[in-house]
Amino acid sequence: MANIPDLELAQFLLLTQTLTSPLKLFNIAKNEKRLLYTSAPMVRYSKLAFRQTVFAYGTDLCWTPMVLAKEFNRNRFARDSDFTISTKGPQPPTIVQFGANVPQELARASSLVVPFSSGVDLNCGCPQSWACAETLGAALMEKRELVRDMVVETRDQLRRDGWGVGKEKDIDNPKGKSVSVKIRVHKDLRKTIDFITTVLGPDQDRHIDWLTIHPRTRSTPSSTPINIEALEILTSTFGDRVPILLSGDVFALSALPFTSPLLHPSPTFTTTDTITITMPPTPALPAVSSDAPILAHLPKLAGLMSARAILANPALYAGHDACPWEAVEAFLNNVARCPLPFKLVLHHLSEMCAPGMGPNKSALLSKAERTEMMACGNMLDLVDYLEDKKGVRRDM
Ligand SMILES: Cc1cc2nc3c(=O)[nH]c(=O)nc-3n(C[C@H](O)[C@H](O)[C@H](O)COP(=O)(O)O)c2cc1C
Repeated sequence: MANIPDLELAQFLLLTQTLTSPLKLFNIAKNEKRLLYTSAPMVRYSKLAFRQTVFAYGTDLCWTPMVLAKEFNRNRFARDSDFTISTKGPQPPTIVQFGANVPQELARASSLVVPFSSGVDLNCGCPQSWACAETLGAALMEKRELVRDMVVETRDQLRRDGWGVGKEKDIDNPKGKSVSVKIRVHKDLRKTIDFITTVLGPDQDRHIDWLTIHPRTRSTPSSTPINIEALEILTSTFGDRVPILLSGDVFALSALPFTSPLLHPSPTFTTTDTITITMPPTPALPAVSSDAPILAHLPKLAGLMSARAILANPALYAGHDACPWEAVEAFLNNVARCPLPFKLVLHHLSEMCAPGMGPNKSALLSKAERTEMMACGNMLDLVDYLEDKKGVRRDM
């Protein structure tokens, strides 16, 4: 594990890491007739050991937590604590997400991380009041020209640094890097359309590689289902011009609230609360109720981004509908090589051992057992505790 910047290390990584431009990953997924699988930026959580774990279970592209560009540029300690990469184990294709509101700050921070990552992303979705008060995160949804200027400046800087930022033109370039944006939607969707139109720029040379849409407004609680209608309009308006990822309510591959030609098999559930079978009825069965909701069809969606569900089940994209013990073990092995603060490890495990976000509500540990686990004081006790519980389950 190492921190940056270190030029020798950059050269080493150029020789050893998988040099696939991120847009090529979109192409590979499409050729495999599936959506691209990504894990979301999550403050505190989406650190190296977690990214390695989800990568081992089929995630194509991993986001770091949001990093404040201004601090990153000025403070060596911020750089050391906010972004670590692997020098030995797998180095998952990684997008570093920044919080920024000044073009030069985003460009400078991007220039520092890009030798060690696949690309950079700008957070225009964080709804927290401290972020919005500083014109970061979701506050940027009211500043479309500024967002455009930030991504244009960043792309220009990376081009000057010698990276391939020509999007599809650099798809086979080992130095191909991406610049992307993650947004929420406005209450008035026309404002979102204006925002995307400005940030996207001209079709012949768009300003961003792809767009991630979290179809909730800044004030929508995460317990409210995503606005699928908004996503349908945005993907059909822009999906031919830029690859679009959905962030929000990606809880299980078999339980997505929409259909897509890139989803096999088609989802069998319509909501996470009420299970509604949508498979064609066999003659022997009663027909599906005519008031069953009709799922939106999203033929222009390119990929999925999961946050809460992949936190609970890092094996989500490998077809596991609940977290398997082996994913817990994989995570602990990664933590041994790429350490995390012990309290954070406990938090991860309490998520992974609890019922997940999808329809399968089984859990590796009961609530009482999870409380017991949280009382472990160190890694050795924790590993012993989990080994013990796993053994008991196996013997049952
Ligand atoms: C613990 C946590 C931390 C998050 N941190 C970030 C972040 O750093 N940057 C960001 O753009 N979104 C962040 N989000 C939002 C998620 O990326 C995602 O857009 C949102 O949770 C909806 O997806 P979900 O329904 O899969 O959870 C965070 C979400 C959670 C639960």
